[in-house]
Amino acid sequence: MIILAIETSCDETAVAVIDATENEILVRSHLVLSQASLHAEFGGVFPNLAKREHARTLPALIKKSLEESNLLSAEKNLGDFDEVLIEKLLSKDGTLKESLIPFLKETPRPNIDGIAVTMGPGLEPALWVGFNTARALAITWNIPFYPMNHMEGHIAAALLEPKDKPNHFSLKTIRFPSIAILLSGGHTEFDLIRTIGSYERIGETLDDAVGEAYDKAARLMGLSYPGGPKIALLAEEARSLKTPSPVKLPRPMTNSGDLNTSFSGLKTAVRYAIEKISPLTDEDKRGLAGEFENSVTEVLVRKTHNAIESTNAESLILGGGVSANTFIRNAFTRLATEHQIPIFLPDPKLSTDNALMIAVACALRLQKGKLLAIDPAEQSLTVNGTLRLA
Ligand code: KG4
Ligand code: ZN
Repeated sequence: MIILAIETSCDETAVAVIDATENEILVRSHLVLSQASLHAEFGGVFPNLAKREHARTLPALIKKSLEESNLLSAEKNLGDFDEVLIEKLLSKDGTLKESLIPFLKETPRPNIDGIAVTMGPGLEPALWVGFNTARALAITWNIPFYPMNHMEGHIAAALLEPKDKPNHFSLKTIRFPSIAILLSGGHTEFDLIRTIGSYERIGETLDDAVGEAYDKAARLMGLSYPGGPKIALLAEEARSLKTPSPVKLPRPMTNSGDLNTSFSGLKTAVRYAIEKISPLTDEDKRGLAGEFENSVTEVLVRKTHNAIESTNAESLILGGGVSANTFIRNAFTRLATEHQIPIFLPDPKLSTDNALMIAVACALRLQKGKLLAIDPAEQSLTVNGTLRLA
């Protein structure tokens, strides 16, 4: 079955096409257009700018993705363009209307079996662009429409096992119950997974997400958005050069007795440290970055250790943008080894937002009979910025 997936929950415009059979995924296209450099001057993602950029670029990206997948070949069937319905659907977004309507009028119906799109969680203005685009395509081409959860996508990314042939993957077999540790710019949560499609949130951040803490700490240190990878690099240098930290940072909530986290105090501690030391030397920055990464990692590993003990988890799954971090990956791998359970890690290139993970989550659910197509023309359909895995 061929699935086209669209992801616009934050600052990446992404489209993917996969061909999924029983236990094999062939990636026919996987495109990610990052807006990070545009948001850098705001020091974080600016929702309305994200929305406008998604609207401007998404239809052309879908076209490119279909071309790459050889799905636009000699088809002449233009689908059934319902001008009134589509105009109404896109009435609140002039930019999207301008880019999408010509695309719908000229693009033949590709031979695909489903359209998957992120409906949440994420930034709602940004989510709407992908969501309404997917609806318009599904209506015009009469193709089943599958709204997906972004966090389930991050879980799915960790289950892809590369095969010998390029672009071919199999799906890893998970041992349940499993704990997913999802660490991104917008979310930090621990979910107990009893089986694909059955999730229970057992811990979450009470304030800033881990990625957000990285980005804010980086900003305080004068590093541009997204700061996560930049702090990671400095921390790596601090470890190899054995640079000491100019301060000791707290390990927030390690003894809270639950699986929740809080990282805003850590960011504040970084701010106080910088104010005290100012001006920061390069060595101070390196040392501080190393200490920051140590703090975050210790907290997350301690919480996960407690989570394994309290749930008798049989495996761990790491996901989200921060799971690209080598130091954090290694710490979690050691933890899994100590508990003699497997850990599923995404390829670092698939840790951050992309549409391939949304396509794979859709395929996984369809395979397990746990996903129903939704009528894309249903008026009451909506995105949900705080959608939970349930
Ligand atoms: O999952 P993601 O791409 O977007 C959201 O859904 O939020 O995560 C982006 C976050 C950003 O905060 C970014 O700074 C962080 O992931 N990040 C990292 C690394 N790579 C990305 N944080 C620490 N170390 C990294 N190597
Ligand atoms: Zn994400």
